[in-house]
Amino acid sequence: MKRVNVGVIGFGTIGAGVVKILLKKRTLLKKRTGIDICLKKICDRDFSKDRGIGKVPQNLQEKDWRKVVNAPDIDIVVELVGGIGIAKDIVLSALKNNKIVVTANKALLSEYARDIFSIGTPETNLFFEAAICGAIPVVKDIQEALVANRIKSLYGIVNGTCNYILSKMFEDTLEFEVVLKQAQKLGYAEKQPGLDIDGIDSAHKLSLLSLLAFGKYVPPETIPTEGITNLELMDLLFADEMGYSIKLLAVGNDTKQGLDLRVHPALVPYEHMLSSVEGVFNALYLQTDEAGDMMFYGRGAGRFPTASAVVSDVVDAARVIVSPDVPSARQEIEFSPRLSEVSCRYYVRFTVVDRPGVLAKISGILGKNNISIASVQQTERAKAGSNTVPLILITHEAAEKKMKKAISEIARLDVVKKEPVVIRIVDL
Ligand code: NDP
Ligand code: HSE
Repeated sequence: MKRVNVGVIGFGTIGAGVVKILLKKRTLLKKRTGIDICLKKICDRDFSKDRGIGKVPQNLQEKDWRKVVNAPDIDIVVELVGGIGIAKDIVLSALKNNKIVVTANKALLSEYARDIFSIGTPETNLFFEAAICGAIPVVKDIQEALVANRIKSLYGIVNGTCNYILSKMFEDTLEFEVVLKQAQKLGYAEKQPGLDIDGIDSAHKLSLLSLLAFGKYVPPETIPTEGITNLELMDLLFADEMGYSIKLLAVGNDTKQGLDLRVHPALVPYEHMLSSVEGVFNALYLQTDEAGDMMFYGRGAGRFPTASAVVSDVVDAARVIVSPDVPSARQEIEFSPRLSEVSCRYYVRFTVVDRPGVLAKISGILGKNNISIASVQQTERAKAGSNTVPLILITHEAAEKKMKKAISEIARLDVVKKEPVVIRIVDL
């Protein structure tokens, strides 16, 4: 039986999960693949910490990652250190040393795609199933099961932390800050939660999804990205009254005018499957030319769900080592695709003083910018102690540029007392 040796670098949340599965399931994997996948080294700075998986044999422990990426008898390097510092050196050195690399590091892959994908080729020497939607096999399905399709659009709930916060705000009628604190206590949200709540993690994943689904690479920092920090409970309640939930979506459309990529909160109609994705779960909805529409759903994070995806990549990498001549369906990557302007319907919440003429001022500016109002809603009276009321407008389809211009003009009116909340409505 062929044997393939693996080195896991980073023995943290996911690394320890991968180690546990590789040790526990070695015989099962041998039976299922005909390959003996042998964990040869585990690398971390500190082996005294309790990783929650019991003691690992002394002879597997290594503190210097260089020894793992340079070891002649290691075939597959699994990078689970995270971040874009040392992880970049690990991935690039391992690829240069002709190792196959498996990683879950969406930040690194998306930010350094040009460096990494010039030597790392998906399905050949670079595997990253766990980087997008954790346990859900979206990378493999896009690359393999959907290989005969043109993917026209994708809509993803790809950040479990944000989805948990939005679900919990609505379910328990709590404000954002309160739920964020709870999520941090429960370990769902990081102490520094910016990557998640500002939408950056979703932009990293969207950048990779675009590469896989459309063959087009857009750096994450150039993807228009909004997080969920300015949403208030009342937005979720107003949306509910109108038949929508609010989700942080990663959206990609491959249009004739160019590629439309964006991350933002969106009103999703209750009739659509995406609106029922609750809590820490992830989902990806694809519109394809041959297979039609489909949705993937499952756990996007967490030790064992993520480790399950990493191990499946290790198995694929082992198969490449054992049968290197099987061709993979590679697609060329376009590195500077043209981006398009979008238009959609909008939900806008203004916080305004409760007096005659306010609506006329606002609708005048919208009208001047060619934006047509579909409906208006205002609570009857300002609450005691406050002279402002929320004014909710739903617009007909409007171009993004015009919308931004109108909103910034309205925000400067003396009757508007807070930054307007603008949420796109997705018509799926
Ligand atoms: P952790 O921080 O839990 O684990 C990283 C480990 O690597 C830590 O033990 C860290 O040690 C160690 N490490 C850091 N620098 C070095 C070094 N120079 N040499 C050796 N070891 C080092 O991260 P996670 O396991 O949560 O995440 C790993 C990757 O998986 C990330 O890219 C993340 O984005 C991705 N991912 C994570 C998910 C999750 O649910 N957690 C889900 C999907 C993807 P120390 O603690 O001392 O810094
Ligand atoms: N912080 C990420 C999330 C982890 O909340 O989804 C998985 O990539």
